[in-house]
Parts: sequence; C-alpha cells; structure tokens
Amino acid sequence: MSGNASTFDLTACRIVSLPKIADPRGNLTFVEGGEHVPFEIRRVYYLYDVPGGSSRGGHAHKALHQLIIAMSGSFDVELDDGCRKQRFQLNRSYYGLYVCPMIWRELDNFSSGSVCLVLASNRYDEADYYRNYDEFLTARER
Ligand code: TYD
Repeated sequence: MSGNASTFDLTACRIVSLPKIADPRGNLTFVEGGEHVPFEIRRVYYLYDVPGGSSRGGHAHKALHQLIIAMSGSFDVELDDGCRKQRFQLNRSYYGLYVCPMIWRELDNFSSGSVCLVLASNRYDEADYYRNYDEFLTARER
C-alpha cells in the first residue's frame, strides 16, 4: 500500500485493543500481523531512556503502517493529517495506536522509565520519510 492522502487521514488511525491473557503469574498480550493490526509486521523498534521533556517523531511516512504501544509508563502521541490534529495518551501495554501512512506524528510527555514499542509494516527506509512539515503538507494536497 503506498501513501494516498485521500485514503489515509485521521479517521483511519485508531486505538487497537489487544488480547490480554490475565494471569496471577503476570499478564500476557500478543499481536499477530494481519490479525490485530492491518499489516504484516516487518520491523520492531523501541524508544527507551527518553529524557524528561524530550519529544520524538516529528515526521510522517509515505507508505509505512505502524502500531505504537506504551510497553511501560506513558507518553502522548499527536497525530496530524494536515487538516486535523488528535492527541492520544498511551499508558497501557494492551492498547496500541494504529497510525496509517501520510500522518505527521509527534511523541512527547514521556514518563520516567517509559518504553515505546513500534511495530512497522516495512524495514527502515529513509526515503519513506517526510521530515519537513511543509513538504508533508504539499504532498497531502497533491
Ligand atoms: P527516527 O525515525 O527519526 O526516530 P523518532 O521518530 O523516534 O524520533 O529515527 C532516528 C534515527 O534512527 C534516524 O537516524 C534513523 C535511525 N533509525 C534506524 O536506523 N532504523 C530504524 O528502524 C529507525 C526507526 C530509525
């Protein structure tokens, strides 16, 4: 799936409720590509040791689909499709935020010790990024 501004707007982004196997020995949550997220998972990365006051993100992807999960602690994700912005607070490891392509995102308000896990539909490719907000807006208008 490639970036298409008319298909990919904020209405496609949503909180996904993941399975939770509650157990007195400790809870377990799992994610299956194509089942709990609308893409096959090709990459996993995580942000950790984020200093207080830092923000991450500040870019959009042309074709990448992602699921963002607060594995530990909490942080905020602001999504922006060029017309509308929406802020989500993530603070549970059994919820994920699905982010479709062509959405500008900023992550901030990281709590101390928080870990942000990202499941992605493709391997790292710098050519898939918009790192300049005006270029992103221009691409959205196309
Ligand atoms: P970036 O995606 O800008 O991080 P964030 O959105 O969390 O602020 O990536 C930061 C740097 O890490 C950048 O130089 C690219 C590199 N990187 C990889 O090499 N592989 C990856 O999978 C990711 C996500 C980033």
